Parts: sequence; C-alpha cells; structure tokens
Amino acid sequence: MEIFRKRPIEKNSFNTLKRELKLKDLIMLGIGAIIGTGIFVVTGQASADYAGPASMISFIIAALVVILNGICFAEFASRVPVSGGPYSYMYVVFGELTAWIAGWLLICEYMLAVSTVASGWSGYFQGFLSNWGIQLPQALTAGYNPEEGTYIDLIAALIMILVTLWVTQEAKKALRLNNAMVWVKFAVIILFVAIGIFFIQPDNWQPYMPYGTQGIFNGAALVFFAFLGFDSISMAAEEAENPQKDVPRGIIGSISITTILYVVVTLILTGIVPFSKLGVADPVAFAMRYIDQGFIGSVISVGTILTLLTVTISMLYSLARLIYSISKDGLLPKYLQQIDEKRKTPKHATFVAGGMGLFFAAAFPLNILAELTNITALACLALMALGVIRLRKMLGKPSKDEFKVPLVPLLPIISVLSCIFLMLQLDKLTWTVFIITLVLGLAIYFGYGYQHSDLNEKKS
Ligand code: ALA
Repeated sequence: MEIFRKRPIEKNSFNTLKRELKLKDLIMLGIGAIIGTGIFVVTGQASADYAGPASMISFIIAALVVILNGICFAEFASRVPVSGGPYSYMYVVFGELTAWIAGWLLICEYMLAVSTVASGWSGYFQGFLSNWGIQLPQALTAGYNPEEGTYIDLIAALIMILVTLWVTQEAKKALRLNNAMVWVKFAVIILFVAIGIFFIQPDNWQPYMPYGTQGIFNGAALVFFAFLGFDSISMAAEEAENPQKDVPRGIIGSISITTILYVVVTLILTGIVPFSKLGVADPVAFAMRYIDQGFIGSVISVGTILTLLTVTISMLYSLARLIYSISKDGLLPKYLQQIDEKRKTPKHATFVAGGMGLFFAAAFPLNILAELTNITALACLALMALGVIRLRKMLGKPSKDEFKVPLVPLLPIISVLSCIFLMLQLDKLTWTVFIITLVLGLAIYFGYGYQHSDLNEKKS
C-alpha cells in the first residue's frame, strides 16, 4: 500500500474558481469567521466557571497558541498557495494518509463549529423572541436532551438552511454580506467598550484568580474556540488575487486584531459585573442590563444576532471549499466537486456541508459541539506545526517573497507541545469521542479514499 504517496505542489494548483479576493477581503473573511460565539457567549462562561477575571489571561494563552500556529499556517500558505488548507499542505509534506486525517479533522472541526455557532445564534434569537412574548414549544427549542424535554433545535435548523442557500450564491455576494456584518460586529463591541468603561468597579477584579492557575488553563482550552476560523483565510487561497503575500498577512492581521478585542472586552466585562454572575447565555448584553443600560443591551443583542450569522456564513463557506478540494483529489465522491457553471461556486459541496451542519446544529447540545470542535482543531494544528519542519527539509528556507517561521524547528515544536497541552485540559468524554472520530476517518480512507484517490488513476 502507498498510503504516504505525496502530491507535488504544482499538481495541486488549479484555477477553476474566480480570483477576486483582496487582502481586505481576506482580513474581513478572517474576522468574520473568528469573532462570534467566543466573544459573545464563551467569555461569560469562562469567567464564571473557569478563570474568573483572569480569563483574560486564558485568552492571551489561547492567542499565543493560535499565533504560533498561525505563523506555521502563514509559511505554508505563502509557499504552497492552494485551497484546502492543512489538508493540501499535509499532502505535499507527509503524503496521503496524513493529508486525509488532517482533512477529516478539519471537516469535523468546521462542521462542529458551524453547528455550535448556529446553535448559539438560536439561543440569542429565542431570547430576543421571548422579549416579544413568542415562545416555541419546549421540544423544538434545543438539541436532543429528553431530560429537559428538548428534541430538535428548530431555529438552528432554519438558519442553517438560509445560510446554505446564501453561500451557494456567488462567493463575492456572500462575502459582501460578511464584510457588512463585520462592521456591525465592530460597532457592537465599540458600543460595549465605550459605555462599559465608565462603569468599571476595580473591586470586581478581586479575587483575580478565583480558580487558580488550573482554572486559567482550563479556561484557555475553552476560549480557544473564540479564535477558530483564522484558517478560513488560507483555505480561500485559490480565490485570492495575490495568495503568496496576502494570505499570511491576512492570517496574522486578523488574529492580532481579534486578540486585542477579546482582552479588552473581557477586562470590561469582568470589571462591571462580578464574575460569578456571568454564566448566562448573553453575557455582553446582560452586563449592560446589569448597569441599567437596558436599551444598549437590546441593541447589542440585535447586533449579536446579526454577527453570529456572519460567523456561520464564513465557516460554511470554508467548509464547502475544503470538501470540494478533497473531492477533487478523489478521496471523497466526485459529486462533491461539481462547480456551478454560472456562479463558479462549489454548489454540491456547499449543500452537503450545510446539510451536515444542519443535522448537528438541530440534534446536539452546544457544549458538546464546542468541546469537540476544539479538540479536532488542536490536533490538526499540531500536525501543521510538524509539517513546517518537514516542509523546510523538502523545500529549504523560504525565499524573500515567502513568509518564514522563525527558529525552526524550535518554534514548531513548542507549537505542537502547546496544542497537546490544551488538548489535555479537555475532559475524558471529549477524548473518547475524538478517538472514535479518528477511527471513523481511517475507516473512510481505507474503505473509499485509498481506492478512489486520483493518484491511483495517475499511476495506472
Ligand atoms: N471563533 C468562532 C466563534 O467564536 C468560532 O464563534
């Protein structure tokens, strides 16, 4: 068996999709995918149950892990400019089996993340509806949990249908909407900061580390979710006008901007509300109500509903392109590589991605989805960091035009260890499901992918 057969870089390059995205579009795509449930929902949970006011340190730790990996991404993106992200990169450096594992983990990560955000969106939206006295039957309010009397999250399912239809339209159209929403997102955050800063009570920052160092690390493993989505930029490389320069810049730019926003928001959030009260579904809006700024709280709620929609769109956009890319290589059925002739978008891949996201968003509870998203993402990032070491052995040092990870192999090794460290902070159930997922992925590869890989056809 030739499970480590590699794909040369040129053969990975294809130009079926329109090259129309500029640096600004890429940064917007990144921010659109990154800021979402993490800042608007997870901040409160991390402060209340994990790290207290020190949750801003959790964000910084998670950001460092993400930046370490972001620069590994950037080197790959500048030297191997193809869509498909880690999947395509692993194909070049480690060969098919590792590429498939990375691709499979990414499919799971993106699908779970889309579902998590759609489910969070549903929570906010239902909260908004209840302000107007509209209440869905209990059975339709959340994923399967008979003890709570919930079976299907109807709103999450409906939003997934809407988003899927949107993303099958011209890429530019979906991203134009995304760009507009990113400004709404900034506006909501600026509004929160501008008002909140006048209500800070420094006493609320005491005790600063109520759950100790362990709480900060557990918090980091949770808030890591808030940074996911930065890799969507490298997956759009095929549609970027100037992938070599703009993709790495887009990655580093969007991670830096979001890190600053997360730290500032956490600082203010824990400064105006005692951390123990932040374990609510809508902490940012709640904080405004807490300081008697109910109207501002409502504006923030509406803004959040709009912005979580953006995250869902960006992630589904990336997931569809990843599935398309893997299918083009033969590891998934041909049906998925069909391009819409008129709009030049991977239509079938988008429908399948949307359908899977819909199923999970409708059927499963948010907390399970979020933890699983993190573990699959961290495993994939660890593979990427290892890949940089291999890439250097294969291609030598990057040229002047390419992005260069400093201190190779030290920095990639630290990056791998940091991913493993965060993974170890997650609980046993998450690990069990993760291992089952990996086994399932291997079964798909040996049952389908290995035989249908286009590298087989090329050989024969
Ligand atoms: N980073 C994304 C969010 O926070 C997944 O919603």
